[in-house]
Amino acid sequence: MDLTNSKLSSFDFEGKRVLLRVDFNIPIRDEEVLNDERMVRALPTIKHLLEKAKSLRIITHRGRPLESGEVQPEFSIKPIAKRLSQLLNIPVPIADSLDGLEQDKKIIMLENIRFFQGEKENSGDLSKKLGNYGDVYIMDAFGTAHRKQASTFGVIDSVAEAGVGFLVEDELEALKKILVNPQKPLIGIIGGSKISTKINVIDSLTSYVDKLIISGALANTCYMAMGKNIGESLFEEDYLDVAEKLVGNEKIVLPENVVVLDTSNDSVLEKHIDDIASHEAICDVGKKSLEYFQKHINSAKTVFWNGPLGKFEDPRFSEGTSEVAKIMSESKAYSIIGGGETITSFANINLMDSVDYASTAGGAFLEYIENKSLPCIDKIITKNKG
Ligand code: 3PG
Repeated sequence: MDLTNSKLSSFDFEGKRVLLRVDFNIPIRDEEVLNDERMVRALPTIKHLLEKAKSLRIITHRGRPLESGEVQPEFSIKPIAKRLSQLLNIPVPIADSLDGLEQDKKIIMLENIRFFQGEKENSGDLSKKLGNYGDVYIMDAFGTAHRKQASTFGVIDSVAEAGVGFLVEDELEALKKILVNPQKPLIGIIGGSKISTKINVIDSLTSYVDKLIISGALANTCYMAMGKNIGESLFEEDYLDVAEKLVGNEKIVLPENVVVLDTSNDSVLEKHIDDIASHEAICDVGKKSLEYFQKHINSAKTVFWNGPLGKFEDPRFSEGTSEVAKIMSESKAYSIIGGGETITSFANINLMDSVDYASTAGGAFLEYIENKSLPCIDKIITKNKG
């Protein structure tokens, strides 16, 4: 992706109103931000714009609320604005409506953009309305750059100038290391629960990785397709055909030793994949498989990881994910992690500093690896070529 003319350094913000799209879709509990990584990573862009521009209007989404036009408190950005205000050490007022963006203030955050009708369907009407509030639009929501929505995509046509922020620049530069002539061997680790959301990227990855470790419920669907008894484990019935093709690929590595929950008495035990009973559910990677994964990871020159390897939110099944995090942090390979849950698992065991790059994106990270492009960023690049 050629960002010439699209970087912050290409723009003169003097006297201009800037509309900034960030991805502050972050974990929040009891009105408190649990992990502010995405916010901290967007701060250089925010500070730059606060210093250079006349005014700054910040847009984010949070979760997937109803597009009812009403504020739904459980999806409000209030805790996010509060945290941003602490990080910047200035008040960050919130506008509940688009009109509220007109107030004469240096910085305002718009309430969750997904409360506004037309956001998800990329309506021309909402895109135009948003465009009225900025002379320049800056896209720094790397985690949402795969969504063609009004505030990420449509709005680009409604403003005079559009560019990308420092975070998008950093993300694209780091991801080049796995996409453009990566140092080999290149090992990928893909976890998570849904093969349906990851099958395309897995297909595309198998053409250029040396090994692809697949775990989590994704692996269960593969085992089911191989005709194994996986008991009560989570799997996707509709994707058995797809999984059957995958398991024929010799680059795919699956965990043969797994940690299961015996649902008849709630006990946890380690089993070989051929010995699963009908009342057991696979919930994590077993020790022998971790050793096997370690061999592959240690042989790598580049390694990337997206998605938890088991039900890591339950401490009984978090070991696989945290052990692989440790193995990855000790390896000499260039390491990249992506996805909210993967980042949280590194953060939980204080290993964030040991990876070479942590992408703030989950779905966008995978889509970028799959297509080598992201629609919202492509649109900005095209606008600046014209
Ligand atoms: C993410 O967390 O992956 C992004 O914020 C995108 O969220 P979405 O999948 O709800 O569009």
